Amino acid sequence: MRELGEFFDKVVVVTGGASGIGEGIVKAFSKEGAKVIFADVDKDKGVKTEVVSKEESNHQDVYFVETNLAMEKEINQFSDFILDKFGRVDVLVNNVGVNKKSGTLTDVEIDVFEEVFKINALSSLTITKQLLPLMLKNKGGAIINISSTMSVGTKNDLAYSASKGYINTMTKSLALDYATDKIRVNAIAPGVIDTPAIQPWMQQEKNPAGSKGIPMGEIGKTEDIANAAIFLASQKAAYITGQILTVDGGLTVGE
Ligand SMILES: NC(=O)c1ccc[n+]([C@@H]2O[C@H](COP(=O)([O-])OP(=O)(O)OC[C@H]3O[C@@H](n4cnc5c(N)ncnc54)[C@H](O)[C@@H]3O)[C@@H](O)[C@H]2O)c1
Repeated sequence: MRELGEFFDKVVVVTGGASGIGEGIVKAFSKEGAKVIFADVDKDKGVKTEVVSKEESNHQDVYFVETNLAMEKEINQFSDFILDKFGRVDVLVNNVGVNKKSGTLTDVEIDVFEEVFKINALSSLTITKQLLPLMLKNKGGAIINISSTMSVGTKNDLAYSASKGYINTMTKSLALDYATDKIRVNAIAPGVIDTPAIQPWMQQEKNPAGSKGIPMGEIGKTEDIANAAIFLASQKAAYITGQILTVDGGLTVGE
């Protein structure tokens, strides 16, 4: 039996939903009773996440669409699937992101920047442009972009942090442009979250949280980010738009 809460029957779209933070967000919204459609390039993990989400949420409305979000043609196919099957979108979570450890501008070829920007920045812009008309038609919606605490600038990782800086700016500009249309646009800036992307590093560290100096003494969980996404999409956040919500166990608070 599907959860009869606020998200019952709402259409939620998630990019990069097969693993890590995206997987956590897919599972959280499907448990809330939403219809969840997610894109990912990883077919095996995508199929598994779809199956497990259906089991955990006790309903069948979870849809994995194999999509390479670096390819405009595949983004178009993903949007067409949503348009044809559901004709509406209530919540869009732009989560997909890669970190190619780009280094400094001296170290890195321009094609690395191109790849990182294509996946982290341009794919979110393209999907949002394609799905916005459905939110405008519905007279409302919530967009949540996954940024990073590294969006403010970091040493030795220019491409990634600049792509996340772009996400913050896109969040604020879209929030202003669509405020009167009741489309709220916010971002979440995770700190260090236990996902496949950072597990190789975690395995090398004796005390991962300590080595990063996380005040709460723990690496974050995907559920921590999913809970923030549920809040920002909910009516409890009805008057919140254009904000970057940091979820990092105190990492960026200061001395
Ligand atoms: N894990 C962290 O500590 C952390 C911290 C800050 C921000 N973030 C951000 O959170 C988001 C999710 O990161 P994660 O840690 O869960 O990473 P992850 O690598 O565990 O998951 C990313 C997912 O995106 C998919 N993906 C990658 N390239 C794709 C493409 N071209 N097309 C479609 N799917 C693609 C992968 O297959 C994977 O399922 C990213 O935007 C990342 O920058 C993560």
